[in-house]
Amino acid sequence: MTNSSTRTALVTGASRGIGRGIATRLARHGWGLTVTARNADHLTELAEELRTAGAPHVARLAVDLAADDAADRLAELHRHAFGAMSALVLNAGVGTVSRAADFPAHRMAKTLQVNLVTSMRLTQRALPLLRKGAAADPRHGASIIGLSSITGVHADAGYSVYGASKAALLRYLEAVHQEESAVGVRATSIAPGYVATDMTSWIADRVPAASMIAVEDVVEVVDMVLRLSRTAGVAPIVMTRAGTSGFQA
Ligand SMILES: NC(=O)c1ccc[n+]([C@@H]2O[C@H](COP(=O)([O-])OP(=O)(O)OC[C@H]3O[C@@H](n4cnc5c(N)ncnc54)[C@H](OP(=O)(O)O)[C@@H]3O)[C@@H](O)[C@H]2O)c1
Repeated sequence: MTNSSTRTALVTGASRGIGRGIATRLARHGWGLTVTARNADHLTELAEELRTAGAPHVARLAVDLAADDAADRLAELHRHAFGAMSALVLNAGVGTVSRAADFPAHRMAKTLQVNLVTSMRLTQRALPLLRKGAAADPRHGASIIGLSSITGVHADAGYSVYGASKAALLRYLEAVHQEESAVGVRATSIAPGYVATDMTSWIADRVPAASMIAVEDVVEVVDMVLRLSRTAGVAPIVMTRAGTSGFQA
């Protein structure tokens, strides 16, 4: 079980890739966790691993973040399990690479819903819990960390819709930071180039996984942000891939 000094996080897209890395790191630090993704079997296996790694309690919900009620259900699950929240990690994301002229309409709605709309709704629902978490932890306060993308900072052909969703998330979290940081809830975006995960396997024949940013490096940045004190705001962190111009994925 958790006690009042246990830090807790809700991590979306926790079953694979960057989200799994973040959840695992936080479990090792003894955080209580709420984890979510669509695949229930992956979440069951993940929850067991997180408990073994050190999480005192793991709540989980298999849900498609495109669903209208996903944000409400997740915030309620975390509230019921922990009562307050130290960190909201808006990690889940989907992407389709296509020229704007040909972009499939149904993918447009899904991309914006999962990457942006549900992230905004979840932030809204989680803020009362985050404010409680901040009040309970005068040293760190509470944090929102959003996984944006370098394509949300610098335009990249083929990433018009995905990049737009990530740019909007980044700008949204900057405004949330301005509104909430005085009461201890800070918000930060991380905007990496290609990271070696399932999401980038389609391009691995042209951009080898070994040349991509490692999941553990993104996890390291998240861990650093969560260690800072409540008075330290962090502007969007762009992580570039070695050997590139620094303006592309
Ligand atoms: N990899 C990169 O190069 C890169 C670069 C910059 C930014 N990012 C961003 O970083 C985040 C994590 O990326 P990643 O590479 O770790 O992705 P990934 O390996 O594809 O993992 C995505 C995670 O999100 C979950 N997910 C996907 N669609 C979902 C949906 N509709 N509803 C609920 N959960 C969903 C997946 O689980 P289920 O399939 O079970 O739902 C999985 O846990 C994303 O926001 C991505 O846009 C990635």
